[in-house]
Amino acid sequence: MKEISLTGIKPTGDLHIGNYFGAIRPALELAATYDARYFIADYHGLNTMKSPEELRTATRQVAAGWLAAGLDPEKVIFYRQSSIPEIFELSTMLAAFTAKGLMNRAHAYKDAVQKNRERGEDPDAGVNVGLFTYPVLMAADIIAFDSDVVPVGKDQVQHIEMAQDIAGSVNANYGGAILKVPRAVIQENVALVPGLDGRKMSKSYDNTVPLFAPEAALRKTIMRIATNSQAVDEPKDPETSQIFQLYQLFADKAEQEALAARYRSGGMGWGHAKEALFAVADRTLAPMRERYRAILEDIPALERILALGAEKARPLAAGTLARFRKAAGVDGPSS
Ligand code: TRP
Repeated sequence: MKEISLTGIKPTGDLHIGNYFGAIRPALELAATYDARYFIADYHGLNTMKSPEELRTATRQVAAGWLAAGLDPEKVIFYRQSSIPEIFELSTMLAAFTAKGLMNRAHAYKDAVQKNRERGEDPDAGVNVGLFTYPVLMAADIIAFDSDVVPVGKDQVQHIEMAQDIAGSVNANYGGAILKVPRAVIQENVALVPGLDGRKMSKSYDNTVPLFAPEAALRKTIMRIATNSQAVDEPKDPETSQIFQLYQLFADKAEQEALAARYRSGGMGWGHAKEALFAVADRTLAPMRERYRAILEDIPALERILALGAEKARPLAAGTLARFRKAAGVDGPSS
């Protein structure tokens, strides 16, 4: 039997190519090796998004984005977190096994407190309990599905260690393997995607290339990539050029070598390099953009996909919850 992998996706409406090459594509590749599951973490989104339109729209857009990028709902399980109430029941049970001190040490909470201190405010200003207990809900997301591996970036490793800690406490208390203890997988060879200004592409740096922008907007964004003042006829170094680094993400080997040769030979201006980048980027992105648009034009069909995913996911979570309840002496609703 294949091991189970689980990927949690935060609701966000404006996916960029850094998300695609750095997270979405590597996560979709897991489906070849694992029994892969993916979900939109809309309850996590609620901690920060208090506008219903914003949260619902972001949830649907990110779901459409992953589908447009190639997630195959026939081959993997794809659902909305809030469709699986068992996750929240499990989360409450796990909270009874979670030391408050463990939550005090969570990076996201500590950062928020630190920022408040720097501003001379009350340490807990603006911190809701949902943010404070975020690692418990995330542990429930993972443990509910007996997940073996959770692919994460470095920033999320601490959360997986907390899930291990919590599952371990439950198992130690009842003297058996009631809950599966997950492990983090840090994916190697994930592309580093530079932004328009050469720093890592990130929403917080405002240097992104949107994944689903219309053709004209894509071209305009690419034309904004920062360059040095080298003249057209000067030879240029492809290795230090973010235009070339972005080009490598979209182009095959022969195309990469050809553009590198044009860089080195002189006679190619930055405008030409940007045109070359636009051509290969649009070749990849145009069909994805078209799928994205079509998916969002048929919300009932999108909702059916997510509902079917939830139908597959719920019995799995219910099984874990039943096992835990039995061990704990918590009977739950009578059936
Ligand atoms: N915390 C993750 C993030 O910030 C999202 C997430 C929520 C998640 N629950 C999860 C990831 C469970 C993996 C497994 O990106």
